[in-house]
Amino acid sequence: MTAQKALACFEPRLSKVVDMIFDKIIRQLFGNDIALPGNITQACQNTQHGDFQCNAAMPTFAFLKKQPGSSSSEYQSPQDVAQAIVRAVGTDHPILMDLQVNGPGFVLCRLQPAFLEQHINGWLFTGQLPFPPISQNEICVVDFSSPNIAKEMHVGHLRSTIIGESVCRVLEAAGHYVHRVNHVGDWGTQFGMLIQYLKEEYPQVIAQDGALPNISDLTEFYKNAKARFDADADFKKTSQTNVVELQSGDPQCLKIWKMLCDVSRLEFEKVYQRLDVNVKECGESFYNPKIPAVIEEFEKAGRLSIEEGGAKCVFVEGMKVPLMLQKSDGGYGYDSTDMAALKYRLFELKADRIIAITDLGQNDHFKLVFAGGKEIGWLQNGQRLKHIGFGTVNGEDGKRFKTRSGETVRLVDLLDESVSRMESKLRERIQEGKANITEEEVHEVAEAIGYGAVKYYDLRRNPTSSYKFSYDEMLSTSGDTAVYLLYARVRLESIAAKAKAEFNVDVEDLLRQQHPVKITHPSERNLVLHLQKYADVMEQTLDDLYPYHICDYVYKLANAASEFVTKCRVLGDPEMSNRLLLCHATTLAMHQCFDLLGIRHIKRI
Ligand code: ARG
Repeated sequence: MTAQKALACFEPRLSKVVDMIFDKIIRQLFGNDIALPGNITQACQNTQHGDFQCNAAMPTFAFLKKQPGSSSSEYQSPQDVAQAIVRAVGTDHPILMDLQVNGPGFVLCRLQPAFLEQHINGWLFTGQLPFPPISQNEICVVDFSSPNIAKEMHVGHLRSTIIGESVCRVLEAAGHYVHRVNHVGDWGTQFGMLIQYLKEEYPQVIAQDGALPNISDLTEFYKNAKARFDADADFKKTSQTNVVELQSGDPQCLKIWKMLCDVSRLEFEKVYQRLDVNVKECGESFYNPKIPAVIEEFEKAGRLSIEEGGAKCVFVEGMKVPLMLQKSDGGYGYDSTDMAALKYRLFELKADRIIAITDLGQNDHFKLVFAGGKEIGWLQNGQRLKHIGFGTVNGEDGKRFKTRSGETVRLVDLLDESVSRMESKLRERIQEGKANITEEEVHEVAEAIGYGAVKYYDLRRNPTSSYKFSYDEMLSTSGDTAVYLLYARVRLESIAAKAKAEFNVDVEDLLRQQHPVKITHPSERNLVLHLQKYADVMEQTLDDLYPYHICDYVYKLANAASEFVTKCRVLGDPEMSNRLLLCHATTLAMHQCFDLLGIRHIKRI
């Protein structure tokens, strides 16, 4: 059988394999009627005890006890049941070994080395770690990044951008189709004042055709416009007229609005390019013409409440605040746009799964929007809606992350700082003679590590948690950081390079010859056991969409690999070929994890 074929017919999640074995044995012993909980096995927390443990003896015993004549049965405790399971597996099972009963009736076991070896060989020869099988390819919408026009992207948008990009990559790697949507804030009353301010301060731009205003600092522009708006009654009035004109399609207002969007877009694009983010703009303005039909649908369904002043609202169950579909002045707001967006995504894009990623402060907003969609009957086909809310990024003082002068931190400055600190570190390495790169390569490598570090620092935790930002911690070469991981990977690759240069053993040749992996040492076994968790980790990530599972996996993998190369000699050892392949399997897994997290690869440091 070819390796591909072998891969296609095997179950990549070893936890499932073990689960199936125990499930079958229990049914053979105690009958098919037995009701068992979903997952009867789990990986052992403490690998000293075993690889997996089966927890089915307790519920099985509870079931047997309810059967007639149970008092005279040979099973008088969960331990008796556990012993029977151990006996039924026997001592020459092809997959399980070292079975023993522990505590109230847990069955501990280990996997046969030959089985683990076969598993790893499967990946090595295909060059890929397998994802869990998915029952159906889905259409997904991931609404992420989504900054606001004419405002600077801040650290909050950074979180959305980084998490969103990774979520998209995971879904795509599993075979789903993903609409990567940048729901930019490009509509709303603030454009009245921005247009007015531009008309007054940049009159020459309006006269020229196509040229973009040279606004070096959009945040400054926004602030100044707002200051005029607050202080000058005439300015305020004309601004409001601009809003009406813009909404009714006045060509000059539209032209200026478009200019502002274009200038902002250029700034956003720079960040996306630096962070290898791919997202397609479909902002609030896109949904504006679709809002009246949504309001009409709610009205026809008798779900619209007209509030005092004429605002059109929808009350949804369990929520105190209603959805505001139209404000009393006739304008549309954030709720209106998001309801139109939800409908569009469900019915036009035919999304099976919609994910929106914003700060936690918008939890209630998305609860409302999703509940509204459900109540009007838009979710008839089991579509899943999810809001991933994230916490704040704080400074070392525990308060919201600010610059020394108290300004919000600009995203570009944070990225610059990360890269420039990394550059200094790399130059130090060059000076100490430890580096494998030249001065010309410093910037490129510093960018890969610097951006990777920013991303990993964010992705490695549950998004709902807030965290303290520290450059030193983020860029540390030890601990749970991208720097540590990237260095670890380079170290593994350098072993392969040395094997080729000094021992004339080329991993590529070994792979071509399908040289099989053998497990000969406990550290190798530990590494392989950890490696094979990949498919389980991906299954979990595809379920809750939290990339921190991947970070956790890759960090533990790096630790297991580091223990392995410390305890097992690779270069020049009789097991060299075998061990080189284990290093290679590890770099494969790390490579795939970095891809999913959006971290660039580096070959040398
Ligand atoms: N522009 C919003 C903000 O900066 C985020 C938009 C998120 N997406 C959505 N469909 N509401 O907070």
